[in-house]
Amino acid sequence: MKITKLLSAVLVLVFLLAACAPAATQAPAAPAATQPAAPAAAAGNKTYADMVLCFPQLGAESDWRTADTASFKETAAKLGIKQLVFSDAQQKQENQISAVRACIQQGVSVIALPPVVETGWDAVLQEAKDAKIPVIIVDRSVSAPPTMYDSHIGSDMELEGKKAGEEMNKLLPNGGNIIELSGTTGSGAAVGRAKGFRETLNPNIKILDSQTGNFTRAEGKPVMEAFLKKYAGQIQGAFIHNDDMAIGAIEAMKAAGLKPGDLKTVSVDGTRGGFQAMVDGWIQADVECNPLLGPQVMEMALKLMNGQPVDKNVLTNETVYYPDKAAELLPTRKY
Ligand code: AHR
Repeated sequence: MKITKLLSAVLVLVFLLAACAPAATQAPAAPAATQPAAPAAAAGNKTYADMVLCFPQLGAESDWRTADTASFKETAAKLGIKQLVFSDAQQKQENQISAVRACIQQGVSVIALPPVVETGWDAVLQEAKDAKIPVIIVDRSVSAPPTMYDSHIGSDMELEGKKAGEEMNKLLPNGGNIIELSGTTGSGAAVGRAKGFRETLNPNIKILDSQTGNFTRAEGKPVMEAFLKKYAGQIQGAFIHNDDMAIGAIEAMKAAGLKPGDLKTVSVDGTRGGFQAMVDGWIQADVECNPLLGPQVMEMALKLMNGQPVDKNVLTNETVYYPDKAAELLPTRKY
């Protein structure tokens, strides 16, 4: 009897062990189920030393642009990124598109694209997407759908235009006639600034004319010369889309015999040149546009390399500068 009981207990034990056995063999299945996480974890370990960042700069048209380029080069060196693939498109979209295509061919980690104009990017953005290379639109905007790129980091150009409009309203409280020296035709900066400015400008201020100076001193000067001839004695103010064109325009104003403050001038950027023009009395308000975008862009590029989420639109916080503080700020101004 006792032997029978003992035998049954052994049998129960053997059965239980057998029943448990498959569960034990299933255990290795758990890591198999989490297997896909392994490559993701490896991807999540990328560092700046792995980063090949494509930066097809749009040109070298202004002091702002020079400071922007320096910010990328200095940040790349400081962070020790593997390679900054830099090129200068000389304000030509076709050069930028070729540079982006070369970067795709090279298999860079991320593309940081400062688009010279808003339209015409869809095809090359699709090529980057197909090659699974993340794209950050830098500084100016593109008209392509936001699904075609990962993020935009830069200024709110429309807001800059609105701020410029508010400043012009304050400078010409009784209204008047003004001219506009616009940035590169079709660029996000020029389109946004012109729109915001018009939305804010008081109805008693009339824009008599608007011409592009392509964001350069060299082109700003003759445009202002022509305005001063055509509208001699008829204009009280000027909205100029950047400090470089303003500096060119000031040369034209001096040559035409105008004195500082004769033409109430609102500019954009806040470069050292703009600050000096405020100290000298030629610019009455300078709306800030910050070019030091390298650190933000590279931080985001690393996140994208590691598959981390990023914000779709990162706008820079900017202010307006006035002549009363210009002299004090000028010595420590970085760009
Ligand atoms: O896109 C930014 C603009 O481009 C700056 O206002 C101008 O100076 C530059 O050339």
